[in-house]
Amino acid sequence: MSVPVTIRDIRPADHAAWLTLWQGYLTFYKVSLPDSVTAMTWARIIDPVCPVFTRVATIDDAVIGFSTCIIHPRTWAVEPACYLEDLYVDETRRGIGAGRALIDDLLAMGRRDRWTCLYWHTNADNATARRLYDHFAPADGFVRYRLAITAPQ
Ligand SMILES: CC(C)(COP(=O)(O)OP(=O)(O)OC[C@H]1O[C@@H](n2cnc3c(N)ncnc32)[C@H](O)[C@@H]1OP(=O)(O)O)[C@@H](O)C(=O)NCCC(=O)NCCS
Repeated sequence: MSVPVTIRDIRPADHAAWLTLWQGYLTFYKVSLPDSVTAMTWARIIDPVCPVFTRVATIDDAVIGFSTCIIHPRTWAVEPACYLEDLYVDETRRGIGAGRALIDDLLAMGRRDRWTCLYWHTNADNATARRLYDHFAPADGFVRYRLAITAPQ
């Protein structure tokens, strides 16, 4: 029997649930962030003016996953693009379609709001995530260069 997954905007009352998932996401990436960064991320997510937004996946009203995106202007088009920065589903709720539903939801938003594209990065060896992503489109072959910026001493 399929489990009904619902996608909706995140709400201030979701803070505790989001924090648990966020910590799980950071653990998945073996990353530890200062609490001030997590607090700022939450503040951005719930600020309706900020171009960062989060959609959550729920089952029986429990928040079990999220997508966090940034809408940004482009140089090659009038309409904006949407960068999917974070996607996560609770470990105990994987494989039942929540990840796919979160991406489908963004595609529907993009069609409604006329984004030119929805895009994201993943590790080449993230086989589970890529198995899901390959249902949507093949990876486009771009290679990322990333330079850490340090302040002058
Ligand atoms: C990637 C991720 C968001 C996918 O979420 P999900 O809700 O499991 O996704 P879905 O259920 O929609 O689809 C997952 C795919 O894996 C399969 N799968 C089956 N059982 C699974 C299980 N126990 N765990 C994970 N995937 C499973 C699904 O069947 C599906 O593949 P298929 O359509 O070819 O059958 C989730 O695995 C996750 O949070 N991973 C850790 C964080 C991460 O990698 N995020 C992405 C960073 S770019």
